[in-house]
Amino acid sequence: MTQALTSAVPSADALDTPLAVDILADHEQKGLLRFLTCGSVDDGKSTLIGRLLHDTKKVFEDQVAALRKDSARFGTQGEELDFALLVDGLEAEREQGITIDVAYRFFATEERKFIVADTPGHEQYTRNMATGASTADLAVILIDARKGVLPQTRRHSFIVSLLGIRHVVVAVNKMDIVGYAQETFAAIEADYRAFAEGFGFESIEVIPMAAITGENLTRRAPSMSWYEGPTLLEHLETVRIDADAVNGPFRMPVQWVNRPNLDFRGYAGTIVSGSVRPGDSIAVAASGRLATVARIATMGGDLEEATAGDAVTLTLAEEIDISRGDVLCPPDQRPEVADRLSAHVIWMGDEPLVPGRRYAVKVGKRLTSALVTRIVHGIDVNTLQEDAAETLSLNEIGFCELALATPVAFDPYEVNRDTGAFVLIDPLSNQTVGAGMIWRSLRKADNIHRQAFDIDRGARSELTGQKPRVLWFTGLSGAGKSTIANLVEQKLHEKGRLTFLLDGDNVRHGLNRDLGFSEEDRVENIRRVGEVAKLFTDAGLIVLVSFISPFRSDRKLARDLFKGDEFVEIHVDTPLSVAEDRDPKGLYRKARAGEIRNFTGIDSPYEPPESPELHLDTVHRSAEELAEDVIRHLKL
Ligand code: ADX
Repeated sequence: MTQALTSAVPSADALDTPLAVDILADHEQKGLLRFLTCGSVDDGKSTLIGRLLHDTKKVFEDQVAALRKDSARFGTQGEELDFALLVDGLEAEREQGITIDVAYRFFATEERKFIVADTPGHEQYTRNMATGASTADLAVILIDARKGVLPQTRRHSFIVSLLGIRHVVVAVNKMDIVGYAQETFAAIEADYRAFAEGFGFESIEVIPMAAITGENLTRRAPSMSWYEGPTLLEHLETVRIDADAVNGPFRMPVQWVNRPNLDFRGYAGTIVSGSVRPGDSIAVAASGRLATVARIATMGGDLEEATAGDAVTLTLAEEIDISRGDVLCPPDQRPEVADRLSAHVIWMGDEPLVPGRRYAVKVGKRLTSALVTRIVHGIDVNTLQEDAAETLSLNEIGFCELALATPVAFDPYEVNRDTGAFVLIDPLSNQTVGAGMIWRSLRKADNIHRQAFDIDRGARSELTGQKPRVLWFTGLSGAGKSTIANLVEQKLHEKGRLTFLLDGDNVRHGLNRDLGFSEEDRVENIRRVGEVAKLFTDAGLIVLVSFISPFRSDRKLARDLFKGDEFVEIHVDTPLSVAEDRDPKGLYRKARAGEIRNFTGIDSPYEPPESPELHLDTVHRSAEELAEDVIRHLKL
């Protein structure tokens, strides 16, 4: 991360900028335009931004003076909070540990205030653009007049459109170098408009300019008297961008439940679309419960109406169950509620996306977990071709299907960029690894409901007189998992316990015969075995699982299927050198000879458990002793 980061961290830098404080202290956010710039340094992007900042400096200084007066009068209390509200997009990114390589800059004119996200053009462009664009209303796409529409223009436009930005300015820069030629400009404009047709932009303004001289940027250019449209700044000041959010149906994701004392219970959040008034009926999207809005409280007093962009606290006439992450909506215009979704996903993780692996997911303010069940196709950002894809690597984009642990309320992203967006978070590192744009729910899940039966695991447990458990043996190939598991099962059997041993090699002959040893296949291997172990414990058995299960996150996924001490993770710890020396199946030798690929410990990683319930040291103790340890741990 570069110097860009310093300006991306508002607390350090921007908070000290009086204008930033001014913008951010401004409750009336409607006078604010957030935009992003796409292009490379060579296209003159820095010059363009520098010029905008420079030429609007006069206003900046006037505002600073005004702000000083105001601050003296009202004090500065609460500014930090206002700041947080305004930059909530950024807050969320930081909370999620996203690596921001995007510089946010602030400037203002008499007409409007602006936040511009400057995204570096190097190879991380997709992630950075996704970050910068997530809250932007408009994109300025730079084109070098000498070069015209390039593959990168297509790439930028695609990502901008995917991220739901509906307003585009095409800045045809360096007109001075092409002699301010109208034909050159007209050809580029025609080119761009032709290829942007499918992107669904609401407005495309193509402006000829010379950022270096400021022509058609902040002042009209006599050199291009043939051009009759607005300058860049005029356009930015006047473009209408907020209609959708304000006119849409009411949506407010509850950010927190505010209960300072017994007499007050309020639901705080930012209205992301539509409006609300006291007396309106509202519904909680997921539960379907209904209530009436009593008051709309804000720091500045109660409101008669609040609209998209307002941060408010609603109180309700009735006491109903609402918690953080719930979405409030009109009873007759509800968002969808589903746990199976299809979505575009922009991958931002250094490790690739693996279908079947569980990630935390945040949809609006709702946190749950999800797995990508299928990558329907990848999308090549240069050609916009759809390709088959097994995984998504950093900066890659795919159309995916997801299964969520709990149903969530959402609108399709193209309808609402707030309630239709999500981020995927790695549960171990807590890093944001993906940004998602919901396409629609997968209806097939809607018609599958859980069926309740009378004979449950409790009834079976009573009959067998044993507590179902999963003994999950993990370790390298040849570590001794199966040997020890076999001894443990014998001992349990002798004690009259009903058991079942699931062994990697055996299960791979049947149920998992379609799976190999790629990362994706191993993830699926462990997912299935976890599910089977779950069914067998439901059946009342003590299940012994003996699988290499090399990945921590997959073992965690399996663990999460069980309650409390039901899941016993047993690390059969044998150093690679010892396992390789023993080489009971001769596989290490083959792996070293290159005859087997992706062999655990050789060319595929093994992630040892961090805190297993049991750690078995096979170097210093015998299999028999270790099996006894396991039995002792079970306290049968
Ligand atoms: S896991 O990694 O997906 O959990 P699993 O326990 O099912 O592996 O299967 C491991 C067994 O498959 C090993 O004990 C070994 O006999 C065999 N095997 C064949 N190829 C490989 C390989 N590339 N990596 C590891 N084990 C392999």
